[in-house]
Amino acid sequence: MKIAVVGTGYVGLVTGTCLAETGNTVTCVDINQEKVDKMQQGQIPIYEPGLEILFHRTIEQGRLKFTTVLAEAIADAKIIFLALPTPPGADGAADLSFVLGAAKDIAKLVKDYKVVVTKSTVPVGTADKVKKVFAENTSIEVDVVSNPEFLREGVAVEDFMKPDRVVVGTSSEKAKKLMEELYNPYVRSGNPIIFMDERSSELTKYAANSFLATKITFMNEVANLCELVGADVDMVRKGIGSDARIGKRFLFPGVGYGGSCFPKDVQALAKSAAEVNYDFSILNSVMAVNEKQKVVIVEKMRKYYKGDLKGKKFALWGLAFKPETDDIREAPALYIIDELLKDGASIVAYDPEATANVRKLKGDTIGYAKDPYEALEGADALIIVTEWPLFRTPDFDRIEKNLKAKVIFDGRNLYDIQKMIDCGYYYNSIGRKV
Ligand code: UGA
Repeated sequence: MKIAVVGTGYVGLVTGTCLAETGNTVTCVDINQEKVDKMQQGQIPIYEPGLEILFHRTIEQGRLKFTTVLAEAIADAKIIFLALPTPPGADGAADLSFVLGAAKDIAKLVKDYKVVVTKSTVPVGTADKVKKVFAENTSIEVDVVSNPEFLREGVAVEDFMKPDRVVVGTSSEKAKKLMEELYNPYVRSGNPIIFMDERSSELTKYAANSFLATKITFMNEVANLCELVGADVDMVRKGIGSDARIGKRFLFPGVGYGGSCFPKDVQALAKSAAEVNYDFSILNSVMAVNEKQKVVIVEKMRKYYKGDLKGKKFALWGLAFKPETDDIREAPALYIIDELLKDGASIVAYDPEATANVRKLKGDTIGYAKDPYEALEGADALIIVTEWPLFRTPDFDRIEKNLKAKVIFDGRNLYDIQKMIDCGYYYNSIGRKV
């Protein structure tokens, strides 16, 4: 099938590449000339495990193309995906100007039937707004479909190629058939394509992310309580997670959720509810708890150093909001850095992928190490913020040699407590014994 993808951000690029991989011909369009030039030369603009190989293969085989010319991208396309940014506006609601602007541009160019798919996370009612734009700007038949993405950064290729489910919101039989044909290769193992109306589909995306953010936040609160009552959150997690109704996944306490999705989507859902005079109060609590959780480790440090962090030097492992990405949007590490600097401490950080992004933002207010052990040199303590695999089984001899004191604050519960105590560490993690 011939496909156009408008917007080559994270979602657009993963969608376009993965659609090309199964034999479709995909043209991705973006207004950023420099980015398009680079992609045409085979340079991939994001880090996402497994994507690069598909990106090169589909370009070489002529099924993945890039352009800045919208008319060229959509001319032969049967389905047009809108994968455009929907940043939060000043009032917390998603800003739809990119989506609606692109819809208008497309409407002026279409010459035959198209299915236009909103892939960006958009508030309930957006499909209706997009339909209105088409109705006002063209007489050609266009079906508007909501098809939210459920990609996790770091495993996005796997999530796209083998989705747990595909959600499609449409009221058109014709569009439904085309979407079914398009997604069929991805659900051959039997996972469902769930068809529904546009509004339910739009809400599904927000509800899924908000539910997951709530699940994590609940566990963060359980962890905080564990510390006060002498329980171990690892045990409680296993104890509750083996109940199939609760499930084992997304029960890991830590330094709060971050990234470009959960914080934005929880806020947007609360805001959408408020707009129809519904107080979705659990979401307000989730946001408030998460704010505190992002700096819970700093509170632990303040307590340990009796409020005096001035002049202390800390090694910080992990800057990305989660492993396998260079994304630092809403990353807890940034909040931790700000708090520690405010208290007069200095920081040397190491991250396998996200250092360049943090350097752009924080400049030389902190130091950057080439490897995890360099960051430890002369540090008063190690702080672990992101659970990159290479931090899981480090060389403890080198840690001991390089650290000034055997002190670790672990925001991701990576190590066995007893082992750490036996090795003489002061080891403070989340929801477990000190
Ligand atoms: C999330 C959803 O998981 C995807 O399904 C969704 O498509 C995506 O948002 C989106 O809306 O685009 P992502 O933000 O890439 O994906 O990352 P997650 O793996 O969900 O992690 C989000 C945050 O939760 C991270 O800060 C992570 O450290 C934290 N987390 C996750 C925990 O603290 N504990 C857990 O048990 C799981």
